[in-house]
Amino acid sequence: MRKHKNEDFNYALFGNPIHHSQSPQIHNFFAKQTKILHIYKAINIPLNQFSLLVNYFFENNIQGANVTSPFKKEAYFLSNKLSKRAQIAKSVNTLKKIDNKCILGDNTDGVGLLSDLNRLKFIKKNFSILILGAGGAVQGVLLSILSLGCSVYILNRTVSNAISVVNQFKQYGNIKIFEKNDLKNNFFDLVINGLSRNVQYKNNLIPLSLLSSKTFFYDMNYGLENTPFLNWCMKINAKYVADGIGMLVFQAAHSFLEWHGILPKTDYIIDILNKN
Ligand SMILES: NC(=O)c1ccc[n+]([C@@H]2O[C@H](COP(=O)([O-])OP(=O)(O)OC[C@H]3O[C@@H](n4cnc5c(N)ncnc54)[C@H](OP(=O)(O)O)[C@@H]3O)[C@@H](O)[C@H]2O)c1
Repeated sequence: MRKHKNEDFNYALFGNPIHHSQSPQIHNFFAKQTKILHIYKAINIPLNQFSLLVNYFFENNIQGANVTSPFKKEAYFLSNKLSKRAQIAKSVNTLKKIDNKCILGDNTDGVGLLSDLNRLKFIKKNFSILILGAGGAVQGVLLSILSLGCSVYILNRTVSNAISVVNQFKQYGNIKIFEKNDLKNNFFDLVINGLSRNVQYKNNLIPLSLLSSKTFFYDMNYGLENTPFLNWCMKINAKYVADGIGMLVFQAAHSFLEWHGILPKTDYIIDILNKN
């Protein structure tokens, strides 16, 4: 195994790829704001070495870590204990060292997304919501959205993955596979994109008859340039559109809370990142 010099950081992000991630910048803001010794580094993990490397880091200096695509499911299986929300999501984005024998798995994606949708005023109780995707991120956010009493429709490339997500969450609220005849004479209030960043969107992705000028569009992806989903939103002249930078900041703040017991301030960080 290639040796990593990890004496100089105590928190990390594990993913592949991670070069686009703004999490280290966000955690630096939190560390400065709270004056807590919190040195956070993004680490690209080779696809077949997740548990080997994570165990290695946790046996050394690492006290906690975030986990991103494609390892959230592996993180779920690696955790020795789970928070209730991670248990339900079957997906973990936050790891915390309890002691040398125990790693706690949590999931802060749901509270992160909901906090940002509330900040943007993009969500209300009982909304009809179309969610694109059925991966770890979507599993992480569904409990929060269903808890609001919203009706959720899942559209995913691999239908069997969508069916499995619907079966996983149907006891928590109104969720089904999207079919073109859904919402007859009605519109989606909100469309959330939870697909991988580089997926290209065809014009006929969602029947335009199911969208209105009041529909909100939220991309969990983010980046310096517009994401492909946001470009698609522009093409269809969507009015209310946001990327996932706010979600990223809020989920990071809730991971910080899990690790240090303090919820850092977030609004000024979202403003700074939006201006970059
Ligand atoms: N802003 C935030 O804080 C935040 C938080 C979490 C995640 N995210 C972002 O959300 C995205 C998804 O993350 P994840 O953890 O859910 O990833 P994941 O578990 O790997 O899931 C990927 C999803 O994308 C679909 N997909 C992948 N390639 C595709 C293609 N070529 N065509 C159509 N569909 C495709 C997959 O469909 P199949 O089931 O068919 O494979 C699956 O639904 C990532 O880009 C991540 O950065 C952002």
